[in-house]
Amino acid sequence: MVMAASFFDQFNVVRIIGGIITNSSIMMLILLAVVLIGSCSYKLIPTRLQSIQEIVYTHFLGLVKDSTANKGTQYFTLIITLFVFIAGLNLFGLFPYVFTPTAHIIVTFGLSLSILMAVTILGITRFRWNFASMMMPSGAPLLLAPLLVIIETISYISRAISLGVRLAANLSAGHLLFAILASFGFAMISNGMLVLSLGPILVMVFITLLEIAVALIQAYVFCLLTAIYINDTLNLH
Ligand SMILES: *[C@@H]1O[C@H](CO)[C@@H](O)[C@H](O)[C@H]1NC(C)=O
Repeated sequence: MVMAASFFDQFNVVRIIGGIITNSSIMMLILLAVVLIGSCSYKLIPTRLQSIQEIVYTHFLGLVKDSTANKGTQYFTLIITLFVFIAGLNLFGLFPYVFTPTAHIIVTFGLSLSILMAVTILGITRFRWNFASMMMPSGAPLLLAPLLVIIETISYISRAISLGVRLAANLSAGHLLFAILASFGFAMISNGMLVLSLGPILVMVFITLLEIAVALIQAYVFCLLTAIYINDTLNLH
Protein backbone atom coordinates (compact mmCIF):
# COMPACT_ATOMS: atom_id res chain seq x y z
CA MET A 1 0.00 0.00 0.00
CA VAL A 2 1.05 3.59 -0.60
CA MET A 3 -0.30 4.58 2.83
CA ALA A 4 2.16 2.44 4.78
CA ALA A 5 5.24 4.28 3.52
CA SER A 6 3.83 7.67 4.51
CA PHE A 7 4.01 6.78 8.22
CA PHE A 8 7.77 6.99 7.90
CA ASP A 9 7.78 10.37 6.13
CA GLN A 10 7.95 12.10 9.51
CA PHE A 11 11.49 10.75 9.96
CA ASN A 12 12.83 12.21 6.68
CA VAL A 13 15.73 14.61 7.07
CA VAL A 14 15.05 17.58 4.77
CA ARG A 15 17.54 20.26 3.74
CA ILE A 16 16.04 23.65 4.49
CA ILE A 17 18.68 26.39 4.26
CA GLY A 18 21.57 25.84 1.85
CA GLY A 19 23.13 22.42 1.93
CA ILE A 20 23.91 22.31 5.64
CA ILE A 21 20.91 23.35 7.71
CA THR A 22 18.36 20.53 7.91
CA ASN A 23 15.16 20.18 9.89
CA SER A 24 17.23 18.06 12.30
CA SER A 25 19.89 20.70 12.92
CA ILE A 26 17.22 23.41 13.19
CA MET A 27 15.67 21.53 16.12
CA MET A 28 19.05 21.40 17.84
CA LEU A 29 19.58 25.12 17.20
CA ILE A 30 16.11 25.93 18.61
CA LEU A 31 16.95 23.90 21.73
CA LEU A 32 20.24 25.79 22.07
CA ALA A 33 18.41 29.11 21.75
CA VAL A 34 15.81 28.09 24.37
CA VAL A 35 18.54 27.01 26.80
CA LEU A 36 20.56 30.21 26.23
CA ILE A 37 17.54 32.52 26.60
CA GLY A 38 16.42 30.55 29.67
CA SER A 39 19.81 30.79 31.34
CA CYS A 40 20.02 34.56 30.74
CA SER A 41 17.04 35.17 32.99
CA TYR A 42 18.18 33.64 36.29
CA LYS A 43 16.88 35.41 39.39
CA LEU A 44 18.13 35.38 42.97
CA ILE A 45 14.60 34.48 44.00
CA PRO A 46 13.77 31.70 41.56
CA THR A 47 10.66 31.77 39.45
CA ARG A 48 8.58 28.58 39.05
CA LEU A 49 10.49 27.46 35.96
CA GLN A 50 13.84 28.20 37.58
CA SER A 51 12.82 26.24 40.70
CA ILE A 52 12.02 23.20 38.56
CA GLN A 53 15.40 23.58 36.87
CA GLU A 54 17.19 23.83 40.20
CA ILE A 55 15.43 20.70 41.47
CA VAL A 56 16.48 18.81 38.31
CA TYR A 57 20.09 20.03 38.66
CA THR A 58 20.26 19.11 42.33
CA HIS A 59 18.81 15.70 41.60
CA PHE A 60 21.34 14.97 38.86
CA LEU A 61 24.22 16.19 41.00
CA GLY A 62 23.10 13.72 43.66
CA LEU A 63 22.72 11.00 41.04
CA VAL A 64 26.24 11.51 39.69
CA LYS A 65 27.71 11.61 43.21
CA ASP A 66 25.80 8.51 44.33
CA SER A 67 26.61 6.39 41.29
CA THR A 68 30.32 7.28 41.24
CA ALA A 69 30.94 7.16 45.01
CA ASN A 70 31.67 10.95 45.01
CA LYS A 71 34.61 10.53 42.61
CA GLY A 72 32.96 11.66 39.38
CA THR A 73 31.47 15.02 40.33
CA GLN A 74 33.31 16.69 37.44
CA TYR A 75 31.20 14.63 35.02
CA PHE A 76 28.01 16.28 36.30
CA THR A 77 28.22 18.86 33.49
CA LEU A 78 28.33 16.11 30.88
CA ILE A 79 25.37 14.26 32.40
CA ILE A 80 23.14 17.32 32.82
CA THR A 81 23.96 18.49 29.27
CA LEU A 82 23.05 15.07 27.93
CA PHE A 83 19.78 15.19 29.85
CA VAL A 84 18.83 18.66 28.63
CA PHE A 85 19.74 17.71 25.05
CA ILE A 86 17.83 14.42 24.95
CA ALA A 87 14.84 15.41 27.11
CA GLY A 88 14.51 18.75 25.30
CA LEU A 89 14.55 17.21 21.82
CA ASN A 90 12.19 14.42 22.94
CA LEU A 91 9.69 16.92 24.32
CA PHE A 92 9.90 19.29 21.33
CA GLY A 93 9.33 16.28 19.09
CA LEU A 94 5.91 15.70 20.64
CA PHE A 95 4.52 18.79 18.90
CA PRO A 96 2.80 18.06 15.59
CA TYR A 97 4.87 18.60 12.42
CA VAL A 98 8.05 18.88 14.49
CA PHE A 99 11.04 16.71 13.61
CA THR A 100 12.59 14.57 16.38
CA PRO A 101 16.39 14.17 16.00
CA THR A 102 16.51 11.68 18.92
CA ALA A 103 14.32 9.24 16.96
CA HIS A 104 17.32 8.74 14.65
CA ILE A 105 19.88 6.03 15.36
CA ILE A 106 22.64 8.21 13.88
CA VAL A 107 22.11 10.85 16.61
CA THR A 108 21.64 8.51 19.57
CA PHE A 109 24.22 5.95 18.46
CA GLY A 110 26.67 8.78 17.76
CA LEU A 111 26.22 9.86 21.38
CA SER A 112 26.43 6.37 22.88
CA LEU A 113 29.46 5.33 20.81
CA SER A 114 31.28 8.55 21.81
CA ILE A 115 30.44 7.85 25.45
CA LEU A 116 31.75 4.26 25.27
CA MET A 117 34.96 5.39 23.52
CA ALA A 118 35.53 8.19 26.05
CA VAL A 119 34.88 5.87 28.97
CA THR A 120 37.28 3.27 27.56
CA ILE A 121 40.03 5.84 26.99
CA LEU A 122 39.49 7.24 30.51
CA GLY A 123 39.68 3.78 32.02
CA ILE A 124 42.87 2.88 30.17
CA THR A 125 44.65 6.15 31.02
CA ARG A 126 43.65 5.75 34.64
CA PHE A 127 44.28 2.04 35.26
CA ARG A 128 46.56 1.04 32.34
CA TRP A 129 46.54 -2.74 31.98
CA ASN A 130 44.46 -3.22 35.13
CA PHE A 131 41.49 -1.88 33.19
CA ALA A 132 41.42 -5.20 31.31
CA SER A 133 40.26 -6.80 34.57
CA MET A 134 36.85 -5.32 33.69
CA MET A 135 36.57 -8.19 31.24
CA MET A 136 37.10 -10.88 33.90
CA PRO A 137 34.71 -11.13 36.88
CA SER A 138 36.72 -11.73 40.03
CA GLY A 139 36.35 -15.08 41.80
CA ALA A 140 35.40 -16.98 38.67
CA PRO A 141 37.13 -20.34 38.06
CA LEU A 142 40.21 -20.00 35.87
CA LEU A 143 38.99 -22.75 33.57
CA LEU A 144 36.07 -20.54 32.51
CA ALA A 145 38.29 -17.49 31.95
CA PRO A 146 38.50 -17.61 28.12
CA LEU A 147 34.73 -17.95 27.80
CA LEU A 148 33.99 -15.26 30.39
CA VAL A 149 36.41 -12.78 28.81
CA ILE A 150 34.70 -13.20 25.45
CA ILE A 151 31.22 -12.80 26.97
CA GLU A 152 32.23 -9.77 29.05
CA THR A 153 33.93 -8.12 26.08
CA ILE A 154 30.84 -8.58 23.91
CA SER A 155 28.60 -7.22 26.67
CA TYR A 156 30.96 -4.25 27.15
CA ILE A 157 30.82 -3.36 23.46
CA SER A 158 27.06 -3.95 23.22
CA ARG A 159 26.57 -1.23 25.84
CA ALA A 160 27.25 1.33 23.11
CA ILE A 161 24.69 -0.24 20.81
CA SER A 162 21.96 -0.81 23.41
CA LEU A 163 22.29 2.69 24.90
CA GLY A 164 21.66 4.41 21.56
CA VAL A 165 19.24 1.94 20.02
CA ARG A 166 16.99 1.86 23.12
CA LEU A 167 16.38 5.59 22.85
CA ALA A 168 15.91 5.84 19.08
CA ALA A 169 13.77 2.69 18.81
CA ASN A 170 11.46 3.69 21.65
CA LEU A 171 10.91 7.19 20.26
CA SER A 172 10.43 6.02 16.67
CA ALA A 173 7.91 3.45 17.92
CA GLY A 174 6.01 6.15 19.79
CA HIS A 175 5.94 8.47 16.78
CA LEU A 176 4.86 5.66 14.47
CA LEU A 177 2.06 4.81 16.89
CA PHE A 178 0.88 8.44 16.75
CA ALA A 179 0.99 8.46 12.94
CA ILE A 180 -0.93 5.19 12.64
CA LEU A 181 -3.62 6.18 15.16
CA ALA A 182 -3.97 9.63 13.57
CA SER A 183 -4.41 8.20 10.09
CA PHE A 184 -6.90 5.70 11.52
CA GLY A 185 -8.95 8.51 13.07
CA PHE A 186 -8.60 10.64 9.95
CA ALA A 187 -9.83 7.82 7.71
CA MET A 188 -12.87 7.40 10.01
CA ILE A 189 -13.67 11.11 9.98
CA SER A 190 -13.34 11.41 6.21
CA ASN A 191 -15.71 8.45 5.82
CA GLY A 192 -18.34 10.09 8.01
CA MET A 193 -17.84 7.88 11.09
CA LEU A 194 -17.54 10.84 13.47
CA VAL A 195 -18.63 9.08 16.69
CA LEU A 196 -16.49 6.03 15.99
CA SER A 197 -13.41 8.24 15.42
CA LEU A 198 -13.59 9.24 19.10
CA GLY A 199 -12.00 5.83 19.80
CA PRO A 200 -8.59 6.43 18.21
CA ILE A 201 -8.67 10.10 19.23
CA LEU A 202 -9.17 9.22 22.90
CA VAL A 203 -6.42 6.62 22.68
CA MET A 204 -4.15 9.31 21.20
CA VAL A 205 -4.83 11.61 24.15
CA PHE A 206 -3.70 8.89 26.56
CA ILE A 207 -0.71 7.97 24.41
CA THR A 208 0.29 11.66 24.42
CA LEU A 209 0.37 11.62 28.21
CA LEU A 210 2.35 8.37 28.12
CA GLU A 211 4.80 9.78 25.58
CA ILE A 212 5.46 12.88 27.68
CA ALA A 213 6.51 10.53 30.48
CA VAL A 214 8.49 8.31 28.08
CA ALA A 215 10.35 11.35 26.68
CA LEU A 216 11.62 12.17 30.17
CA ILE A 217 12.15 8.56 31.29
CA GLN A 218 14.24 7.64 28.25
CA ALA A 219 16.43 10.72 28.71
CA TYR A 220 16.79 9.85 32.39
CA VAL A 221 17.71 6.23 31.66
CA PHE A 222 20.32 7.34 29.12
CA CYS A 223 21.95 9.65 31.69
CA LEU A 224 21.74 7.13 34.52
CA LEU A 225 23.46 4.45 32.42
CA THR A 226 26.11 6.95 31.29
CA ALA A 227 26.82 7.75 34.96
CA ILE A 228 27.11 4.00 35.70
CA TYR A 229 29.52 3.49 32.77
CA ILE A 230 31.62 6.43 33.94
CA ASN A 231 31.70 4.85 37.40
CA ASP A 232 33.36 1.74 35.89
CA THR A 233 36.34 3.88 34.88
CA LEU A 234 36.63 5.47 38.32
CA ASN A 235 36.14 2.49 40.63
CA LEU A 236 37.68 -0.72 39.39
CA HIS A 237 35.97 -3.76 40.87
C1 LIG B 1 9.05 3.02 25.47
O1 LIG B 1 9.62 2.55 26.68
C2 LIG B 1 8.75 2.63 27.81
C3 LIG B 1 9.53 2.16 29.00
O2 LIG B 1 10.61 3.00 29.28
C4 LIG B 1 7.52 1.81 27.57
O3 LIG B 1 6.64 1.92 28.67
C5 LIG B 1 6.81 2.28 26.32
O4 LIG B 1 5.70 1.46 26.03
C6 LIG B 1 7.77 2.27 25.14
N1 LIG B 1 7.12 2.86 24.00
C7 LIG B 1 6.82 2.14 22.92
C8 LIG B 1 6.05 2.87 21.89
O5 LIG B 1 7.15 0.99 22.80
